[in-house]
Amino acid sequence: MTRNERANFGSKLGVILASAGSAVGLGNIWRFPFETGNHGGAAFILIYLVCVLILGIPIMIAEFLIGRRSRANTAGAYQKLAPGTQWRWVGRMGVLAGFLILGYYSVVAGWTLEFIGEAATNSFAGKSAAEFIASFNGFVSNPWRPVIWLIVFLLVTHFIIIKGVEKGIEKSAKIMMPMLFILLIVLAICSVSLPGASEGIEFLLKPDFSKVDGNVFLGAMGQAFFSLSLGMGCLCTYASYFRNDTNLPKTALNVAGIDTLVAILAGFIIFPAAFSVGIQPDAGPSLLFITLPNVFQQAFGNIPWLAIVLSIMFYVLLALAALTSTISLHEVVTAYLHEEFKFTRGKAARLVTAGCIILGVLCSLSLGVGKDYTIFGLNLFDLFDFVTAKIMLPLGGFFISLFTGWYLDKKIVWEEVSNNGTLNIHIYRLLIFILKYIAPIGIGLIFINELGFFK
Ligand code: PHE
Repeated sequence: MTRNERANFGSKLGVILASAGSAVGLGNIWRFPFETGNHGGAAFILIYLVCVLILGIPIMIAEFLIGRRSRANTAGAYQKLAPGTQWRWVGRMGVLAGFLILGYYSVVAGWTLEFIGEAATNSFAGKSAAEFIASFNGFVSNPWRPVIWLIVFLLVTHFIIIKGVEKGIEKSAKIMMPMLFILLIVLAICSVSLPGASEGIEFLLKPDFSKVDGNVFLGAMGQAFFSLSLGMGCLCTYASYFRNDTNLPKTALNVAGIDTLVAILAGFIIFPAAFSVGIQPDAGPSLLFITLPNVFQQAFGNIPWLAIVLSIMFYVLLALAALTSTISLHEVVTAYLHEEFKFTRGKAARLVTAGCIILGVLCSLSLGVGKDYTIFGLNLFDLFDFVTAKIMLPLGGFFISLFTGWYLDKKIVWEEVSNNGTLNIHIYRLLIFILKYIAPIGIGLIFINELGFFK
């Protein structure tokens, strides 16, 4: 292959695994539980599932088809499919969102590295829930340790990005995904069998609709976009490396299915355990990190070597899941700079990494020494999370559905999604109907509702 040719994912499985690798990450295992906890449990999950079904899957198919048809980075894609129009701003906003997400995401990714160390040195042993909370708070507000870890994480991401698409992304996803899945099942079984776990199971399964307000809808929609890596051209960029015979609707179904399963499993690990040891479900971003050590303690405390082995495995796999997501975020921005500004790939990647280190350090410090500096009452870390997941990604999804539903020639859409004309015509019509009407109106209503117009 010459240097100028765009690379491709090798196999069908590779396509699914790389996309699922982007989707499955801290969004499922860290963010989903804490958003569920913040928004009252089962009712949030139900609304989340509806969002995945009627917004997530159709918009994912739309992103796939835009990417594969144009074979360009996300901003270039709109330029190719809609030359001379303003649609390219959708792609540019996505690139910016990716950059911001990578900035704060790598902070949490860095935490996973610290926890690998803690697991390996058996420092969970004999601690109470309150002690886990105290030591976690001490760690994240430390000005050095989290900063060093996030830099390490970004450098590893950088290294894989400059090695190229096929080798880096595909290989890591292939090994890590199935292992992560099995371990999550084991941990979920352990968690639900802890004493007092039933309250947590109830929290997950028994919806209380009296708690549902505009915030819950915005939270569920934002989580769906975040978790599925949607609305910012990530899967669009990946699809630009798909082969022509990749079945787009089927791939979208698979990716959304795997992603949702992992999130639900994470819920079944976190909540039973949290209720069992008396950790509040609305503990926020710390929830995963203060709850899980308890699971290892409670379930395997009597067999220390097993507790050590399983906890190391868990945090290593979590770090790898985060890595396949940071790679995808980095790739969006790198591909954009490389193709639009004609930087070499190496230079583009270096710029992205350097920029994200600066953002990441600021976000990390905003949880400790800088926590008094707030904008709209949010520290920088929470602000980036809010602006990207709850505003930029859904807004991106809004425009992507309008672009595919209204602007794009339906001949192109059919050619890309029909898989050589084999897609059932009713499913195709439903897809177009959702992209034309349901998705933009649904996203619009959730935004308007959040502004308080319906109160
Ligand atoms: N979906 C990833 C996760 O759940 C995060 C992500 C968001 C990745 C947006 C790419 C784009 O961890």
